[in-house]
Amino acid sequence: MKQNDPNILCLWPEADGAEAKSTRRLQTIVRPILAQEETEILSESRQIEDTLKKLTETSEMTILLFVLDLQEDGVSLGAEKLLRMLRHTAVKQDRCLAGIIVDCDNANYTKAEATRFVQAANAAGISFPGAPLVEATKDLKNFSIRARNAQTTREEAYADSVRMLLSRLRKTAEELQAQPRENPRSILALHASSHETSNTYALFEKVKQKILQEAPDTVIEEIGLRNGTLQDCSGCPYKMCLHFGENASCFYGGVMVEEVYPALRRADTVLMICPNYNDALSANLVAFINRLSSLYRVEPFFDKALFSIIVSGYSGGDILERQLISALNMNKGFFLPGRFALAERAMEPGEAAALKGIDARCGAFAEGMLRLPFLRWSTDAKSGIIKAQTTKYNL
Ligand SMILES: Cc1cc2nc3c(=O)[nH]c(=O)nc-3n(C[C@H](O)[C@H](O)[C@H](O)COP(=O)(O)O)c2cc1C
Repeated sequence: MKQNDPNILCLWPEADGAEAKSTRRLQTIVRPILAQEETEILSESRQIEDTLKKLTETSEMTILLFVLDLQEDGVSLGAEKLLRMLRHTAVKQDRCLAGIIVDCDNANYTKAEATRFVQAANAAGISFPGAPLVEATKDLKNFSIRARNAQTTREEAYADSVRMLLSRLRKTAEELQAQPRENPRSILALHASSHETSNTYALFEKVKQKILQEAPDTVIEEIGLRNGTLQDCSGCPYKMCLHFGENASCFYGGVMVEEVYPALRRADTVLMICPNYNDALSANLVAFINRLSSLYRVEPFFDKALFSIIVSGYSGGDILERQLISALNMNKGFFLPGRFALAERAMEPGEAAALKGIDARCGAFAEGMLRLPFLRWSTDAKSGIIKAQTTKYNL
């Protein structure tokens, strides 16, 4: 830890029962690392509430670490209280960065709970680096491959992941405090909608207009992934996927390899334009996410920011936010800026663009995209070691 590094505030709500296995694991594996790294651990409800209140007023960069100590049934009453507090919090944009550790002696619940917390914290304005979650599941089975590759125990692999998360948080905080960028922002906007009738597309038009008005040199590349243009991933063997990835390609080729990969590699920001279809992302956008696997194997997306415009007819925008967070931030490593989603409700064509106050909301969202500093570093997906960004391909 360097002298001027911001402190890490660890929000670790009190466990419900001292006898829980997960509690012991957090105490024996995680707590000593947090002590060594000089984090400040806050466990009492009142302390946590006061800390979140202070965050709403400060402009100083703050790093938070959420530690969720779930019982075997996947529930922690202390964590639920924290979730409620987060839903009543609003911090200054991009001044607060967080990671999350979820420990549960069950094969399920860890990711789902983490995603709920990240979505609530993000809506409060808190940013997350790529891969912000360290989960510890039943028997630490999720660390078995990592432990085998490093020829170590699952417990040590768990400890290593916590250390790497702390280092990633510090490095990202440093980047976010860096000077404003000199180059124009480069945005890749992905949609699968009809230009004429789509509500989500109409909001994108408003956001685009505001961006170009504020920063005319911004590069916005737009790719439409409508029916038939994109085949879904069909799960090639790992080595084959890796081989194609090393050549910035994928076995199935097509628009993904010819247009999307090169545009993605040029972009520093990805904007997902998502209508709510049956409380989920539409199939073409899911296919895009699945087809990222090949490129991600050799080039994780830690230096790219993820934003989204979501429109639902009635409700459920938060479900899509969680789907994007889980697939693209937690899994594929995109940086998640505070308030990454503009989520609105409209059913009939033309309705979203006519919503009360929509121009102001689109304007604020566009400004948030422009204000975000560049992330210049990348992290090796396997080792988690931060390295200087290199260009491997010459597309
Ligand atoms: C196949 C389909 C499924 C939908 N499912 C939902 C839903 O589960 N919940 C909801 O609130 N709206 C749902 N809607 C409504 C759309 O989210 C809404 O019309 C939105 O404006 C669509 O955005 P678009 O115009 O950009 O396509 C659905 C619409 C379609 C076509």
